[in-house]
Amino acid sequence: MPAEHPRIRTFEEYQDAYQRSVENPEQFWSEIAEPFTWRRKWDTVMQADLVGGHNKWFSGAKLNITENCLDRHLEQRGNKLALIWEPNDPKTRGLRYTYRELYQEVCKFANVLHNNGVEKGDRVCLYMPMIPQLAIATLACARIGAVHSVIFAGFSANAIADRINDAQASVVITSDGLDRGAKQIPVKRVVDEALETCPSVRGVIVVEHVGWPVHMQEGRDVWYHDEVAEVEKTCPAEEMEAEDMLFILYTSGSTGKPKGVVHTQAGYMVWTDYTYRNVFQVNENDVYWCTADIGWVTGHSYLLYGPLLAGATTLMFEGVPTFPSPGRYWEVIDKHGVNVFYSSPTAIRSLMAHDINHVLAYSLDSLRVLGSVGEPINEEAWHWYHTHIGKDRCPIVDTWWQTETAGIMISALAGITPSVPARAGLPLPGVQPVLLNQEGQEVEGNDAEGYLAIKQSWPGIIRTTYGDHERCRQTYFGVYPGYYFTGDGARREENGLYRIMGRVDDVINVSGHRFGTAEIENAINQNSHVVESAVVGYPHDVKGQGIYAFVICQDPVDPAEAPRVEASIIETIVAEIGRIAKPDKIQFVSGLPKTRSGKIMRRILRKVAEGETNNLGDTTTLLDPDIVKEIVEGRK
Ligand code: PRX
Repeated sequence: MPAEHPRIRTFEEYQDAYQRSVENPEQFWSEIAEPFTWRRKWDTVMQADLVGGHNKWFSGAKLNITENCLDRHLEQRGNKLALIWEPNDPKTRGLRYTYRELYQEVCKFANVLHNNGVEKGDRVCLYMPMIPQLAIATLACARIGAVHSVIFAGFSANAIADRINDAQASVVITSDGLDRGAKQIPVKRVVDEALETCPSVRGVIVVEHVGWPVHMQEGRDVWYHDEVAEVEKTCPAEEMEAEDMLFILYTSGSTGKPKGVVHTQAGYMVWTDYTYRNVFQVNENDVYWCTADIGWVTGHSYLLYGPLLAGATTLMFEGVPTFPSPGRYWEVIDKHGVNVFYSSPTAIRSLMAHDINHVLAYSLDSLRVLGSVGEPINEEAWHWYHTHIGKDRCPIVDTWWQTETAGIMISALAGITPSVPARAGLPLPGVQPVLLNQEGQEVEGNDAEGYLAIKQSWPGIIRTTYGDHERCRQTYFGVYPGYYFTGDGARREENGLYRIMGRVDDVINVSGHRFGTAEIENAINQNSHVVESAVVGYPHDVKGQGIYAFVICQDPVDPAEAPRVEASIIETIVAEIGRIAKPDKIQFVSGLPKTRSGKIMRRILRKVAEGETNNLGDTTTLLDPDIVKEIVEGRK
């Protein structure tokens, strides 16, 4: 029988746990880690390095995370539902897997991977719809010690190729096609295009989902249903070292190409399990639903690993919130009796805009806890969520964290610590946030503002950026040595509650998806019309931030030609990154506001994009101050 994991139940218990985690992190985390299934226990709990970024947790321990997600639940929870799958189209039949069934499916997929030559340490790339096989294949990689790299199935062939080549993946798992709302995407065809420039890939495993004909390349591509027909239902779990890689997940930064954030076995397991249990306060018979795609970190940590580690029932949804109607989320909640619902401010804001009768048609009686993640939730959206979905009885956990932190860092614990609109709240035990000023000094007290940094290591801290540790060191530990730098600005307000103000670097957050402005500019600059571009974010009612691109073309763009050139630029971005990075506004300009040393003054472009044109600040240091007038006049 699995040992019990303690859970915080009262504010006093939170304060006590927090205190202990700060005073003696090693003791604290060794107690939290104790109840997991370990093949061998650790020699050292924590080796913190917030200067060089070489952080290690539970060194010397041996384990397999899937034994903790699956095997150890079999005795007590073998017949309990582990995974509920709700398809894109409500008329299609959904699927349900008990812990025993999921265990068998994962073992079978793991055997298929083995038979296709995948070994411990190999990188496997997954580009798939939100179907059970995505969850199963991800766990199957972990079962045999292969490193999974899931790519959201909205990225373009070029973006996939960049990620595959960076990780040197040897196998790709995909499907024939994908349904997302009313749209269909020929996923396998996108993979085929990507693989034209990916020499490391030896094999492609294709899951049949929509039944489309696809091209199968002899000697490289196999159908999953053929491969699985003959394999065993059990597969021994590979014994992994605590600091062996579990996965790579690509995310955008302020410079260059997206980087592969690396998380490792033991720390990730302990951290996602601990944060999941304590933030959401999920009970044994609850149905829990996280609406994120497994292609993002939220899907990794709180759709897949966190809930399964905790032995919960997790719901996976293939579709979108507005298909076939804007009542779909609420219908799914009633249909499956969802108790805990975790979604994004963008989804809430887009649903708020529809007739309230789409909500009122459902009882939502089962709901007990609501969550939000990915971007700041504005007060209006918070209140709508609280009143209309939570019926004023469900606490909202506004969870602040990042791909690099692996799990939730600052958030209310549902019903236990304060949940105040627009405040993420208090740090979780183990998290020591600080606010730094320009000089890198800690700003004390409440009612303070600064750069948000973390001054102690925690089990889920980023381990490296794949293949380039120096980039990891510089980005996260080199800015203020001795601190993990988040890239966010924050305020500490009444009672020590944190309010996240947004990114302070050149990262923009569009519908909870991160893009580097340089990444979008690089894509735009690939277009043959374009000489140079500058991209900034601006406030957007639904997406949180919109993308505003200022573009200089080879020749002045005639107004009659503008729509055609714009369409061509958008096409380039869609090919380079994917539809999700499409700018909301493109303005053609004859020049950009640059300093005499050639640096673009983004501050001015941001103000123009925000519509704050009366307050542009000092423009006297510009090489050509007149350009500002032209840009203001041409504002979209
Ligand atoms: O700016 C913060 C914002 O999202 C960034 C992290 O993005 P990503 O790595 O894609 O992870 C998203 C899911 C965890 C952060 O630097 N962010 C995330 N959650 C919140 C948030 N901003 C405000 N409030 C939040 N709850």
